[in-house]
Amino acid sequence: MYKIAILASGSGSNAETIVRHFHAGNAARVVVVLSNKARAGVHDRMQPLGVATKTLDNSVWADEPERVVALLRSLDVDMVVLAGFLRRIHPAIVTAYRGRILNIHPSLLPAYGGKGMYGRHVHEAVLAAGERETGVTVHHVTDGIDEGAIVMQQPVAIDSGETVETLEAKIHAVEYDLYPLAIAAVLGID
Ligand code: GRF
Repeated sequence: MYKIAILASGSGSNAETIVRHFHAGNAARVVVVLSNKARAGVHDRMQPLGVATKTLDNSVWADEPERVVALLRSLDVDMVVLAGFLRRIHPAIVTAYRGRILNIHPSLLPAYGGKGMYGRHVHEAVLAAGERETGVTVHHVTDGIDEGAIVMQQPVAIDSGETVETLEAKIHAVEYDLYPLAIAAVLGID
């Protein structure tokens, strides 16, 4: 059974979907959720699911990546999954898990990616540009921001009168389907 660690800074709705998806089968399991925020909603979501969470200070993520790698290795983690984790991943962590760290981004990368492009900022920029289509991308994590090889992408149509809120809801719904599929594809399981 493959062991997955999720990294999350926010509400954790993707984390919850990933846990529910894989815990319904026996090919993979989420063994821990790591956060940089002690009050993030993801902690509350994991409690009833029985998934342990741990908060590591921003200083650890920035200056002591070997502690993160040691923790992941002590849990025998095979794959690291970023789900709304709002910190750059230290190159030492990327090196330790190269090819086995994924991220999900709420646009059709390379469009609307890079520094400052996260959460609502992405949807605001997409709508301000008058795009007719956006989407979701799952990609490998590298040292650059939103630059790694793309695993899967799914377009989302933008309707007239679309707002940041309606677009965010549509994107989230697509993410819930796409991310478990992409993780399974990289792990080589169903
Ligand atoms: C998602 O929209 C994802 O694309 C982005 O951060 C958001 C996380 O949402 N990277 P949630 O915490 O999973 O609800």
